[in-house]
Amino acid sequence: MEDIRRPENMERITTKELAQAFIDEQVAQIRAQVGDKKVLLALSGGVDSSVVAALLIKAIGQNLVCVHVNHGLLRKGEPEQVIEVFRNQMNANLIYVDAVDRFLDKLAGVSDPEQKRHIIGEEFIDVFAEEARKLDGVEFLAQGTIWPDILESEAGIKAHHNAGGLPEDIASRFELVEPVRILFKDEVRMVGNELGLPANMVYRQPFPGPGLGVRCPGAITRDRLEAVRESDAILREEFAKNGLEGKVWQYFTVVPDFKSTGVKNGQRTFDWPCIIRAINTTDVMEVTVEHLPDELIDHLVKRIIAEVPGINRVLYDFTPKPPATVEYE
Ligand code: XMP
Repeated sequence: MEDIRRPENMERITTKELAQAFIDEQVAQIRAQVGDKKVLLALSGGVDSSVVAALLIKAIGQNLVCVHVNHGLLRKGEPEQVIEVFRNQMNANLIYVDAVDRFLDKLAGVSDPEQKRHIIGEEFIDVFAEEARKLDGVEFLAQGTIWPDILESEAGIKAHHNAGGLPEDIASRFELVEPVRILFKDEVRMVGNELGLPANMVYRQPFPGPGLGVRCPGAITRDRLEAVRESDAILREEFAKNGLEGKVWQYFTVVPDFKSTGVKNGQRTFDWPCIIRAINTTDVMEVTVEHLPDELIDHLVKRIIAEVPGINRVLYDFTPKPPATVEYE
């Protein structure tokens, strides 16, 4: 039976000193657990896996093998940042897998949201397992499990992603390394800061596992997916410029699968709309809409229309949750 208690005497990590003490303790613990053996980690570039990677690099350097799978549904600049931060700056042993065509080919023509999620999840495991099978002598698997994952799994809300749903032949080869399992999200961020990770990685807004796939409703096409990616990049850039990064909980764009008539330079256009969603919440069960200043909305409309091919209309989603969910699928 797994011991699921957070150590009773553990102080909440609220200062740099406590974060540093945690790092020192974990580095020693990781070294004691894995010795000179190799550890494998699926590194998405999200906060949890990035902090785990940085801790393990500090503890065991090149004996950590990171696998970053680009499934084509990541935000603009994300794979490049993972390579820059981990391979170039931290000198990590990083395997970058370009699986874009593989994912998009499997998803072609699939419009059912649950089937899309299922394909993305299965394919991810397949790609990761293939990489794992190629590696010899790796005995440990690191995971970015955090304390709320353990509580949710205990409460029966969500399965604790033990060995990430890997097939048995792979999962049984590994012992788990979960250095942030006793931390809350804000503590993971404090530790990430102390480890020198960039602020936009540490304070990233939530991003769903199926990525931009759920923001390209219906059957994903490459051109519409690019419209989602480009409009999302503009929105993030403008939020950062206007001091809204880290203040609004989640913000993104959606490009639905229908077209409407417009006019540009005296010519008729027939293109997609781009929907902006910006929301706040404390518990994710109930979500309120962030009301942006009119000037910012005007500016976003102009930029998205001018810079994103295939868009001729920009809409703002004023619907709270409930009745709407955060994502469109
Ligand atoms: P919903 O749409 O359920 O979203 O109101 C609530 C929060 O969960 C995120 N989300 C997901 N995260 N895999 C994830 O890892 C998913 O399939 C998924 N669907 C939604 C969503 O971005 C929001 O923060």
